[in-house]
Amino acid sequence: MNDVKRAMDVYLNGLRNQHAVEMQAVGTIQNEMPRMEPYPDLYAKMKADHERSVTQAARLDDLLEKHGTSKSVVKQAVTGAVATVAGFIHKGAEDEVIKNVLAAIGYKAYEISSYKVLLTLADAAGAGDDKSTLEQSMKEEQEMGDWLGSNLPNLVHAFLERKAA
Ligand SMILES: [Fe+2]
Repeated sequence: MNDVKRAMDVYLNGLRNQHAVEMQAVGTIQNEMPRMEPYPDLYAKMKADHERSVTQAARLDDLLEKHGTSKSVVKQAVTGAVATVAGFIHKGAEDEVIKNVLAAIGYKAYEISSYKVLLTLADAAGAGDDKSTLEQSMKEEQEMGDWLGSNLPNLVHAFLERKAA
């Protein structure tokens, strides 16, 4: 197996893993959203992130198909690292909103880095054409991560206000 072929194998596996990461994000957001309604800004952002994650997963599907990998191979177990930051464990916690946002910031950092890995692998695999698609998704992750980070103080205040009410 030559270097490019080997890199392609790793790259395709990376695309499948990232698809699982996006689907995990979709599931987590879906689960959390009903209880985040008291925080309208966050709720709206989560709704947008949910839609984007569905689109990002579809982009990964398209790339896999382009490289001749069947979609049925896509379903894979989510890695332990991802499960750790998924929000399910925070359900019912009094400060669930804060825990969820912290987890989401971690998740976004993971996703941004994953796309960076995929961009490097795409080059090594001779799939430079894929990069603009991957870059688009990475940019979206960055936007959401930045929004969460910069709005964290506001969300803490909103949480305190609700607690005092
Ligand atoms: Fe995503």
